Amino acid sequence: MLEIKGLNVSYGKKLALTVPNLTINKGEIIGVMGQSGSGKSTLVNSCLGLVPFKGQVTLNTDDVGILMQEQYYIDTMTNQKIMEGLLNTSIKKDKKLVELIDFFNFRSQLSHHFKNISGGQKQRMSLIMVLYQEPELLFLDEMTTGLDFESRQALIKQLKVYFKEHQTTVIMVTHYAKEIEQLADKLLIIDNGQVIAFDAPKNLFKQYVGYSAFIVGNNVDKNIKVQQPEEEYSVARQLIDDGDDFRRTQGDIELVYTEVMKGQRA
Ligand SMILES: Nc1ncnc2c1ncn2[C@@H]1O[C@H](COP(=O)(O)OP(=O)(O)OP(=O)(O)O)[C@@H](O)[C@H]1O
Ligand SMILES: [Mg+2]
Repeated sequence: MLEIKGLNVSYGKKLALTVPNLTINKGEIIGVMGQSGSGKSTLVNSCLGLVPFKGQVTLNTDDVGILMQEQYYIDTMTNQKIMEGLLNTSIKKDKKLVELIDFFNFRSQLSHHFKNISGGQKQRMSLIMVLYQEPELLFLDEMTTGLDFESRQALIKQLKVYFKEHQTTVIMVTHYAKEIEQLADKLLIIDNGQVIAFDAPKNLFKQYVGYSAFIVGNNVDKNIKVQQPEEEYSVARQLIDDGDDFRRTQGDIELVYTEVMKGQRA
């Protein structure tokens, strides 16, 4: 669905991103993580041809949807008018659009003006318009930044259903490990303009953490890695004896991310 070969993006003299090789298959959901300024948006923007680059980016579809971090629409029209205008349809006669509006709980916002709805509602409205076009390939750059915990959870749940149903290929940039845990088939970590990890989360967990890990006091920096199943009981017993709060994990993405980054800094 998406193939990158020898990608180089520079802003002036500064090399912002290098990706020698990257293939994303149809129906895969890729979660992209990395520090601020690492090159995540640059990756998205070069795939979309929004920044000049050297190398080869091949998209096997013309059906591409984009959701940027911020959207702007005309403030003098209701949301209904904006949607109908941009999608060139009439809500009354458009079953598909009505379904999406209900799916994202947006009906009560239709008569409002865009400037008067909340950040989460704005994101939903943009998603409705992007998904209406049933893109085969979808880029989401920090879709849930600024949403409260509950809205984020609700949105992720809805998207999970939608993506499965439509077999959408998705590249989503996020700072929230939980989003990746819930949605992504593969995790791509960018550091300082380089792809430093790209694989299924469970493979990265095995490689960078081990069989399992005990996170002490809910702080991923305080973790005990376990390589063999037999070791788990003694570790757990010790933690209980010490009176520590802990949880066991075999797939925590925040832990994977932290460990991958540690390897990079070592
Ligand atoms: N238009 C631009 N002109 C010059 N430099 C840029 C431009 N866009 C990005 N950069 C630089 O390129 C690097 C990568 O930026 P990018 O926007 O891809 O980071 P990011 O990983 O998306 O960060 P964030 O998490 O903050 O969104 C940064 O050092 C940034 O300052
Ligand atoms: Mg960015």
